Amino acid sequence: MNPVTIAGFRDHAVAVLTEAGIPIPEVDAELLIGHVVGLSRGEVQARAITGAQLSAHDLRVLTEALERRAAREPLQHITGRAWFRALELAVGPGVFVPRPETEQVTQIAIDALRAVPSAAPIAVDLGTGSGAIAFSIATEVPQSVVYAVEKSPDAFRWTQQNRELTGASNAHLLLGDLADAFHELDGTVDVVASNPPYIPSDAVPRDPEVRLHDPELALYGGDDGLDVIRHVSKTAARLLHPGGVLVLEHGELQAVAIAALLRADGWVAVATHRDLLGRDRATTALKH
Ligand SMILES: C[S@@+](CC[C@H](N)C(=O)[O-])C[C@H]1O[C@@H](n2cnc3c(N)ncnc32)[C@H](O)[C@@H]1O
Repeated sequence: MNPVTIAGFRDHAVAVLTEAGIPIPEVDAELLIGHVVGLSRGEVQARAITGAQLSAHDLRVLTEALERRAAREPLQHITGRAWFRALELAVGPGVFVPRPETEQVTQIAIDALRAVPSAAPIAVDLGTGSGAIAFSIATEVPQSVVYAVEKSPDAFRWTQQNRELTGASNAHLLLGDLADAFHELDGTVDVVASNPPYIPSDAVPRDPEVRLHDPELALYGGDDGLDVIRHVSKTAARLLHPGGVLVLEHGELQAVAIAALLRADGWVAVATHRDLLGRDRATTALKH
């Protein structure tokens, strides 16, 4: 096969990615082509139908990109970009690639913030990584003031870059541990959102993209996965005013343990929320 047309290269890429165990190889093949040629996925499909050819340069770059993806490097590390809600974020080694399920968790935080009767409601994102949650809130609730903390210096470089990219000038960033963050805001915050590390240390993810490329600090939360969540509960209780809302993402089997942990810390109206697949993936609670 001579992969010189877009259609030819796409078929070749689908075969290579299928062999490598990529779950939906057509999507990755078309996104890789689109990234290199500078086209949307729909445009790639259209050019494939009309027999468009690849330049020798694009073919070389694509061949290298395909090899990286076949070695199970995350697509987002190869393109350098991840879509999250309305944002295009820069991502790469050192930072957690934001996931679609977090878009729904972010919606809960945005809805809670929009309901606050204040001209400048305050939100905090604990463990912000790429800034996916923080910058979505900041740009979708532009009258809000958002504070975000990240512990990893490597991840924090991406947070800073994404603040520039998204133009979220109402977001304030801190490099540090969430347990000690933002004492100056104690008792004033309306919404705290967090997608903390919550995988138990011995539950190593199967997908190489996650296991080998997401930072360990972003994934693991100690023996039961709840170590960082315990800190999130304490920090959020300190930051929020009475009636303030905590929005927390977690693993689908952790909802009961997290509800118990939060109630023991004095939270009220603890509620579990399902994702679009019916899994218990988020918990909200009110500061008493
Ligand atoms: C699962 S990732 C989520 C990143 C981002 N919020 C998102 O939803 O895509 C968890 C993040 O929390 C950070 N983190 C872990 N422990 C932390 C701590 N004690 N203080 C601050 N950040 C922490 C990790 O470095 C990582 O960026």
